[in-house]
Amino acid sequence: MWNKRYSEPGFLFGTEPAQFLRDYAEHLEPGKTALAIADGEGRNSIFMAQNNVQVTAFDFAENAIAKAKGLALENNVEVNFCLSDIENWPWEENAYDLVVAIFIQFIGPQERKILFTNMKKTLKPGGIILLHGYTPKQIEFGTGGPKTVENLYTLEQLRLDFQDMEILTLRAYEAEVDEGKGHSGMSALIDLVAKKR
Ligand SMILES: C[S@@+](CC[C@H](N)C(=O)[O-])C[C@H]1O[C@@H](n2cnc3c(N)ncnc32)[C@H](O)[C@@H]1O
Repeated sequence: MWNKRYSEPGFLFGTEPAQFLRDYAEHLEPGKTALAIADGEGRNSIFMAQNNVQVTAFDFAENAIAKAKGLALENNVEVNFCLSDIENWPWEENAYDLVVAIFIQFIGPQERKILFTNMKKTLKPGGIILLHGYTPKQIEFGTGGPKTVENLYTLEQLRLDFQDMEILTLRAYEAEVDEGKGHSGMSALIDLVAKKR
């Protein structure tokens, strides 16, 4: 389904990074290493690379990776783009300074638990997780994201899921999103920034 969506001309989520990533750009320090999970067409990984972060990004949609590679070339930055699904990604231990997961709510609670464990594992001690998505209220807005409520994040659940980390920011809010035709309009968003102890 995703690969087909990406086969259409243009960029489904635009070529600009998520506003969330701009909001927390203070964490994108030059020379840091980052893993971008389900990075799609590269808008977020490329923004990090423009900030001189060494980025590895993966997604399971070939058409998205092809677009991401083209966009990186156009922007004259290097990103290590990999074709992989989330289930088969080799989660190397203590490997990255940053783990970035933006709009990756395609999995339910059980798989999410495994994913969050893997994200923490691949983060270096002192490293930062940047997680951004929708809250259940987004179902009412219908301006992007999955229709499956259990895939969405709540403050309570993220507080629990990341209780073993130092939570630097955890906030739910409503805002106008203009990130390609995939994400457009008033939205119910949630941000988590957490540091591995
Ligand atoms: C809503 S898009 C977000 C893309 C990107 N993070 C962004 O913000 O522009 C979700 C992405 O997850 C990818 N995806 C879905 N299921 C996946 C899986 N099982 N493994 C890896 N990537 C997956 C899709 O190909 C798509 O690019």
